[in-house]
Amino acid sequence: MSWDTVRLEWDDDVATLTVDRPDALNALNVETLEAMGEAIEEAAEEEARTLVLTGAGDAFIAGADIKYMRDLSPEAAQAWGELGHDVADALEAFPAPTIAAVNGYAFGGGCEMAIACDLRVASESALIGNTEIDLGIIPGWGATQRLPRLVGDETARRMIFLGERLDADSAAEAGLFGEVVPDDDLEDVVTELADRLAAKPAFAMQTAKQAINQGHAGSQESGLAYEKRAFASLFGTHDQREGMAAFVEDREPEFE
Ligand code: CAA
Repeated sequence: MSWDTVRLEWDDDVATLTVDRPDALNALNVETLEAMGEAIEEAAEEEARTLVLTGAGDAFIAGADIKYMRDLSPEAAQAWGELGHDVADALEAFPAPTIAAVNGYAFGGGCEMAIACDLRVASESALIGNTEIDLGIIPGWGATQRLPRLVGDETARRMIFLGERLDADSAAEAGLFGEVVPDDDLEDVVTELADRLAAKPAFAMQTAKQAINQGHAGSQESGLAYEKRAFASLFGTHDQREGMAAFVEDREPEFE
């Protein structure tokens, strides 16, 4: 299959999924999320031995599309949250290892897609954060549950409460990135890692991944369900409308 805003490319057993909306810094709208979901399914059906997620141009994924989100009702935001969750869940459950090649901005939903992958390699110029608080909302695609597990409670709370944007080295120090490499080396380093993973025994690899995921599963499921409801409930509030209007109109928000 082919899509307008997503590319799925193969190098032997390694599939690379590139979000390709560079004019919007690869922000995720409905079309792009749906395409990602289909591409992930295709990569699984074609038995990719490693899946790499990256962004076209200089950004990884600058988040959910704020221009689309700004006028959503709580009901529409519920469906929107579900769609993003489905894609993050599909990455997490992918039957082979996944690597986020974080080549630039990874904010909000972009950070959430990166942390739904098994491993993260970042370029030196990458910036990452859950910036939703400054839009009057909370992370809606899994970060309230996945981020504390990855970086620890204190760091996750700082990132989510303050909307902090971490540079690549700080993010690596916090445990968000396994490796930070010069911008020009990112593709080569990720290719080498992807090939190494792809050469391992597939069934053992899948089982190892499932076992690790299973260990996180219990309370994460109810946590993710709670996050979906909480995310949607913020839509229609003054601060959500104001936060997103201020972004689109390029001004400082005036929160209540
Ligand atoms: N949604 C929609 N459009 C976006 C976007 C987003 N998340 N991020 C960037 N864009 C668009 C900009 O509006 C701009 O479009 P126009 O040229 O049509 O104006 C284009 O991409 C380039 O962006 P900038 O001019 O802003 O580029 P910059 O280099 O000055 O700044 C940036 C880059 C720091 C990433 C800045 O764009 C930014 O802060 N973006 C928003 C990041 C963010 O807050 N993301 C979280 C979204 S909320 C979320 O993801 C919720 C959730 O959990 C589901």
